[in-house]
Amino acid sequence: MKPEVQPNKIVVLSGSGLSAESGLPTFRDSNGLWNQYAWHEVASPEGWQARPEAVLAFYNERRAKAAAVAPNAAHRAIAALEQAYEVVVVTQNVDDLHERAGSTNILHVHGELIYARGTSDARLRYRIDAAPITLGQLCEHGTQLRPDIVWFGEPTQFMEEARAHVASAAKVLVVGTSLSVYPAAGLVKAARGRAEKVLNCLDFDKVPFGYTFMQGKATEVVPALVNTWLNQAQSQA
Ligand code: OAD
Repeated sequence: MKPEVQPNKIVVLSGSGLSAESGLPTFRDSNGLWNQYAWHEVASPEGWQARPEAVLAFYNERRAKAAAVAPNAAHRAIAALEQAYEVVVVTQNVDDLHERAGSTNILHVHGELIYARGTSDARLRYRIDAAPITLGQLCEHGTQLRPDIVWFGEPTQFMEEARAHVASAAKVLVVGTSLSVYPAAGLVKAARGRAEKVLNCLDFDKVPFGYTFMQGKATEVVPALVNTWLNQAQSQA
């Protein structure tokens, strides 16, 4: 049975384009990470087995860069929605810019840079913030520490929870994702017909059915949309 739509609930589905204006690269834009690195070498269990030092170096650099930048106006606007709405952020991003902007309810479906985990047991997580992971650093069960990142071929996290949140949202904002990686991309389809659904990114070939496309930079589009939604909440109060 589908959950009831909650009139005061907003779900934000975010991707790397949201953090682009903070200075972090996306994956598939022209200067994106997957145009510079082979994803199967740095973001797969096979790559980890073949060349763990290259994988650690890749994510150590991602972690250091994420720690050196700040949330932008779009992250802050999303956090401000909590003034008037119940907000759940479901993010494919592995940075912590939503947290640092002030959002309080965040599901990281692709993992988090600020944690390391044991190779053998994903439940053994250690907060490392900006620190690098080195070869030879072990978890308490004696296996090499690795980034707490969901690699290609590994199960995406929190999907059932995320799907239920999307299905009960009155408003869904998709921002900064090309919707090319499943199952996370499939979450857009869990939104209800009568929910207000918006997609913001720089460009998009095939906007999912029922979504209003707001083209442009997240730092321009999202704060304006958030203002509209906050005013709406105030006028309904
Ligand atoms: P992509 O690089 O696939 O898509 C980035 C999207 O952000 C594109 O649609 C751009 O138009 C948009 N964009 C870029 N700059 C923007 C800006 N300033 N404002 C608004 N939109 C902007 O990145 P993701 O969809 O996040 O997974 O990629 C999904 C997953 O693929 C990642 O989580 C990662 C990657 O492989 C793993 O590593 C498991």
